[in-house]
Amino acid sequence: MNSEKIEIFDTTLRDGEQVPGCKLNTKQKLIIAESLDKLGIDVIEAGFPVSSPGDFESVSEISKLVKNTKVCGLTRANKKDIDVAAEALKFAKRPRIHTGIGTSDSHIQYKFNSTRGDILERAADAVKYAKSYVEDVEFYAEDAGRTDNAFLARVCEEVIKAGATVLNIPDTTGYCLPEEYGEKIKYLKENVKGIEKAIISCHCHNDLGLATANSIAGVINGARQIECTINGLGERAGNTALEEVVMILKQHRDLNLHTDINSRMLNEMSLMVSDLMGMPVQPNKAIVGANAFAHSSGIHQDGVIKNRETYEIIDPEEVGVNASSIILTARSGRSALAYRFKHIGYDITKNELDFLYSEFLKIADQKKEVKNDDLYMIMETCSRKI
Ligand code: KIV
Ligand code: ZN
Repeated sequence: MNSEKIEIFDTTLRDGEQVPGCKLNTKQKLIIAESLDKLGIDVIEAGFPVSSPGDFESVSEISKLVKNTKVCGLTRANKKDIDVAAEALKFAKRPRIHTGIGTSDSHIQYKFNSTRGDILERAADAVKYAKSYVEDVEFYAEDAGRTDNAFLARVCEEVIKAGATVLNIPDTTGYCLPEEYGEKIKYLKENVKGIEKAIISCHCHNDLGLATANSIAGVINGARQIECTINGLGERAGNTALEEVVMILKQHRDLNLHTDINSRMLNEMSLMVSDLMGMPVQPNKAIVGANAFAHSSGIHQDGVIKNRETYEIIDPEEVGVNASSIILTARSGRSALAYRFKHIGYDITKNELDFLYSEFLKIADQKKEVKNDDLYMIMETCSRKI
């Protein structure tokens, strides 16, 4: 069976940049946008042009710079936002306007003090208006995760009739369970008239730690675009992490879904975004965390030294990491110690190893990690005694 492509929509520069303290200037955004283009991203959400003159400038400059990728600007469902976004995108080779409105009862009542009928009308009008500027219009039904499915299907039908080519179904509050989110996408595929004219997009937040799982449930059930950010940055607990969905689809070939992302750039992208945004990556972060390919307990180390696949499902080179690392701690065993000694130029016999290992443990119990300098010191002390 032929594998189907999942479009990757990167919103690091829009939803990702909404993280407090992560503000980027235009120059920094251009550096990231250029790398995203090389990474093989399908759509870059460059910003929310009406929100500030700085964001307008960034979207406009990114539009001029980017060669291959579609460039997208966010708007609310009103003419002013759409006019400003269209102006910011006017130099883009492949512009997209991303417009939308809240569709859950909570948003309709508390944000808009409105009715479902009015929201339907405003959604369709915004899409028609955006369509007068660009061919490619994506509609977001904000808080779709908590929107009643039958109403959501009506909204989707109206915006498709108005010309939307992508339907974004955000789990804005990160509330859904994977099964529930997957069911929602399936329901829309089966119940929205005209659905074949648009693709469905997953945009999931991580409030319950389920953003990645929900996005994958979405594509399994028929969505064909995932919205995500480098390192999972984003409002509150963040968005779906780009590196995670890309590697899940790569590892699970049985799903018959693929992306066009060059996974070998993932590690450098992660470091670059972390650096420019001043947001450290947690060491145990999947795929790009400093410990993602580090082994420190004796049982695991012994296995990995014999054959990497015993404890690693991804070849580190696939994500741009040179090699897995064997970290020496008080939980490490003899084979890890011999391996690390070999790495710094010492071939050790079995008898020597027993002695070195007992010296090693004395130091390891005092420290979080035993480094090369400690190994040289152990070797020097022991060679005097051996
Ligand atoms: O989370 C969300 O609903 C959003 C929309 C504005 C697309 O970010
Ligand atoms: Zn969002």
